[in-house]
Amino acid sequence: MTRIRKAVLPVAGLGTRNLPAAKTTPKNLLNVFDRPMLAHVVAEGRAAGIEHFVIVLGRGQGAIEDYFDRSVELETALAEKGRTAMLETLRAEVARPGEMSFVRQMAPLGLGHAVWCARDIIGDEPFAVMLPDMLMDATPGALSQAMAAHDAVGGNIVVVEPAPDGETHKYGIVALGETAPGFHGRLRRMTGMVEKPPLGTEPSNLFISGRYILSPTVFEALAAHSRGAGGEIQLTDAMRARLDHEPFHALAYEGVTYDCGDPLGLLRANAAFALRDPDQGAAARAVLSELLNASLGA
Ligand code: G1P
Repeated sequence: MTRIRKAVLPVAGLGTRNLPAAKTTPKNLLNVFDRPMLAHVVAEGRAAGIEHFVIVLGRGQGAIEDYFDRSVELETALAEKGRTAMLETLRAEVARPGEMSFVRQMAPLGLGHAVWCARDIIGDEPFAVMLPDMLMDATPGALSQAMAAHDAVGGNIVVVEPAPDGETHKYGIVALGETAPGFHGRLRRMTGMVEKPPLGTEPSNLFISGRYILSPTVFEALAAHSRGAGGEIQLTDAMRARLDHEPFHALAYEGVTYDCGDPLGLLRANAAFALRDPDQGAAARAVLSELLNASLGA
């Protein structure tokens, strides 16, 4: 089976649901406990063996490139102060030489268009797509689980999970057929998919939650630049165009997803990532209980 070496991370969205925080800080650099949400997703990709990240940026998002670059000034200051642990943490975030490419999407034409902007760097090999505002807390990581599914059945893999009640119209929704062997029944052939179906028309309650492994043939479908839901060029539509030609499987991964695309989702992710932190989890629990008790009048 072809190894998946490259991942596309589309970050160009305007982040309107995270305004005003996302006005001057790119949405994907908003903090989740101790680092930007994007850094958590890059860590998940590295753990899954991704060697090259193609980050699709919008205007005004240069801080993302700086985040993954060295900061000689900070490193010197930390070294002088003997802050060795923080120095190591900082250095571990920096991209290895050639590990990241930054591509600019000139206009917010949709997720499909953002992925299409990465086509020349991806070339003719299967690749991953990771949506960085969906943090997935899982062991092994969500992308690693998708890779295992890809090793087993090949083709295209789309990670899915049940949508919150009454929210299927906000997502890409899949229709499923037969179950693949293994994976505790969590891997099933996809028979259809639709982006943001009107409520009542959804083919299931399973939504596409932000990790994909795709064949490069999806770029042929994306090249048509057809507009779909919301007038945007949708990745879901391009995948559906390939469904008659190649297999797609949906994997209901084992883990917990945090949608950081609005302030409450970001709050939930922050609390969860603080609580699970090996060094500061206990202290975080004390802080959160104190706040909750005060708020509940206990
Ligand atoms: C995108 C995808 C959608 C997916 C969702 C997950 O939608 O188009 O299929 O379910 O991400 O967050 P967006 O959130 O960009 O509207």
